[in-house]
Amino acid sequence: VIDIRKLYAQSDAFTYDPGFTSTASCESKITFIDGDQGVLLHRGYPIDQLASQSSFLETCYLLLHGELPTASEYETFETTITRHTMLHAQFDRFFEGFRRDAHPMAIMTGAVGALSAFYHDSLDIQDATQREISAHRLIAKMPTIAARAFKYSVGQPFVHPKNNLSYAENFLRMCFAVPAEDYVVDPALVRAMDRIFILHADHEQNASTSTVRLAGSSGANPFACIAAGIACLWGPSHGGANEEALNMLKEIGTPERIPEFIAGVKDRKYKLMGFGHRVYKNYDPRAKVMQTSAYEVLAATGRENDPLFLVAKELEAVALKDEFFMERKLFPNVDFYSGITLSAMGFPTTMFTVLFALARTVGWIAQWKEMIEDPGQKIGRPRQLYTGSAARDFVPVSQRG
Ligand code: ACO
Repeated sequence: VIDIRKLYAQSDAFTYDPGFTSTASCESKITFIDGDQGVLLHRGYPIDQLASQSSFLETCYLLLHGELPTASEYETFETTITRHTMLHAQFDRFFEGFRRDAHPMAIMTGAVGALSAFYHDSLDIQDATQREISAHRLIAKMPTIAARAFKYSVGQPFVHPKNNLSYAENFLRMCFAVPAEDYVVDPALVRAMDRIFILHADHEQNASTSTVRLAGSSGANPFACIAAGIACLWGPSHGGANEEALNMLKEIGTPERIPEFIAGVKDRKYKLMGFGHRVYKNYDPRAKVMQTSAYEVLAATGRENDPLFLVAKELEAVALKDEFFMERKLFPNVDFYSGITLSAMGFPTTMFTVLFALARTVGWIAQWKEMIEDPGQKIGRPRQLYTGSAARDFVPVSQRG
């Protein structure tokens, strides 16, 4: 009988690193994070500068191409993206197959995966031009798919893209306009939406991006890879946290109930959603920008005294003074204020992670392209530390006790 555990000792060294807390799976030039200092750079540019001075589409270009575009490069990029915003007419039938009460993230996972059945030319991943077109298609079509998932859930007719609007305004219009009615969106909300997209655009090798890379390492097509990323993002420890954070604020209800809630967190009954991060052991730089956006959106929508916002501010103040959170370096992450902001904009909680997926698509596809274009790329194949039975002989059922 072979003692399987002894094989580990004989084999080449490998690392046991649950959750990959200290193992780099790839080289990347896209995003840099210093979690101790609370720094996030995309292609070298600080996230707060991009959020205040750039636009989402310009940030997309930066993530994909490595440099900020010139004016003419930007114009060409914007025109290309707007040319791809429509979905194949047959695609609308696909939505009708879902129950009306389906979670929009379930629809997103299915719909984005189904793009591979519509755009066959994008399946040739060895062709650089096709890889570029796939990236453009995904960035352009995600708002249309996300808005349809929303419209389907509320039983309203789909609104087609209007390509003379900006990326964020077009998306808000597809979500909130009702056909044949005028729809005017407050520029403050357009700016906030665009900033939320920028804040979520990329975040190096998080769970969903690693999923996209792992799926892509086998040569799977880009739509399948992004669908895998969406499925992973849905989890409450990742993109689902903003939905959970808002539900938690609703459950707390009033600032008076915060001490009781904090006691439950310390007793490990539940986690403080929207707090903590695998990499940031300091304030998440995106959370600061998101907090400013929350103020702006609440002011624009006349909800400065929204009880959930008051609970959030007080909860943050209490946690940041509490030893339990400080010892563990638990600070608000980007999800803490994003739920309140999106809710004030009119989105139901079930759409929060969809908006995250929409924005993260550029990061996923930029990382996928970088991986495919890396000559040293290998199929992802983690090892395991086997803890099961040693090898043993099969016993026929008649002889088992
Ligand atoms: N509330 C209460 N305690 C927490 C929290 C939290 N939100 N997060 C971590 N802790 C505690 C853990 O219980 C643990 O305590 P212990 O050492 O006494 O056992 C300690 O802090 C370290 O926690 P880990 O689980 O080791 O931290 P990890 O890096 O694995 O987890 C994670 C990071 C998953 C984000 C975690 O902080 C969490 O679940 N947060 C809430 C969900 C959330 O907001 N997710 C969004 C992440 S950001 C994003 O995806 C955009």
